[in-house]
Amino acid sequence: MAAQLNTENKRVHSASGDELVSRKPVLLMRYRGFTRCNHWLTALCMFALLLSGFAFFHPSLFWLTNLFGGGQLTRWIHPWIGVVLVISFLGMFLQMWRLNLLRREDIEWGKKIGDVIQGKEGNLPEVGKYNIGQKLVFWAMSLLILLLVITGIMIWEEHFSGLVSIPVQRIAVVAHALAALGCFFVVLAHVYAAIWTRGTIRAMTRGTVTGGWAFRHHRKWLRELARRDVGREPGGK
Ligand code: HEM
Repeated sequence: MAAQLNTENKRVHSASGDELVSRKPVLLMRYRGFTRCNHWLTALCMFALLLSGFAFFHPSLFWLTNLFGGGQLTRWIHPWIGVVLVISFLGMFLQMWRLNLLRREDIEWGKKIGDVIQGKEGNLPEVGKYNIGQKLVFWAMSLLILLLVITGIMIWEEHFSGLVSIPVQRIAVVAHALAALGCFFVVLAHVYAAIWTRGTIRAMTRGTVTGGWAFRHHRKWLRELARRDVGREPGGK
């Protein structure tokens, strides 16, 4: 036993001064409280909209109106939840659109999607706060929500009746349903990616991610934060 400990203590790959300095992980702030509230309010509205919308999609799903206090109430509340979603999503859009603009490295990263799936991060170019998948989800959500608002207003009889003709309203109803279906799949992809990439959910719950996570998935973002941090005390202003 003692002999084994002796060999384990021998220096083979390290110099005498090398040592563990801190066991505490490096943590990086990714979303502050306001942004996280903004995100979860948007998510809540989106789920309520999808559920109440699906209730009108097909008679077999009408039972979903029970979640909102019956058919009449669901019909009334659905567009108002839409209004809250638009305001809430706009808050996120204004904070995030710039960092979601496509950059050259994103295209390179996207071309190597096979390596992403196999977890071979070493083959991928370094990316900033968002990768191309996240950026496409962001722009798809933005466009689909815009389409939902425009078509939603066209068919909101209570407040905008007569705004457009009945034939145009019929087209708007179909476009509204298709945009909602699109949103459903985009949100599904978003949630799947957030769960699949381990260590991501905490970005939207606690606000922070580990240095290891950032090094693996968003190295340019990490490097920029590290450069900005030079000379500052950890957690200091
Ligand atoms: C249960 C549902 C959801 C979960 C678990 C979830 C989780 C997350 C997580 C963990 C992040 C941080 C990702 C990162 O920074 O790398 C994030 C970002 C984001 N989420 Fe969600 N989310 C959900 C629903 C939604 C919905 C419904 C929307 C919009 C309608 C949405 C819009 C966004 C946006 C715009 C971002 C910023 C990142 C980007 O630009 O792609 N999320 N979400």
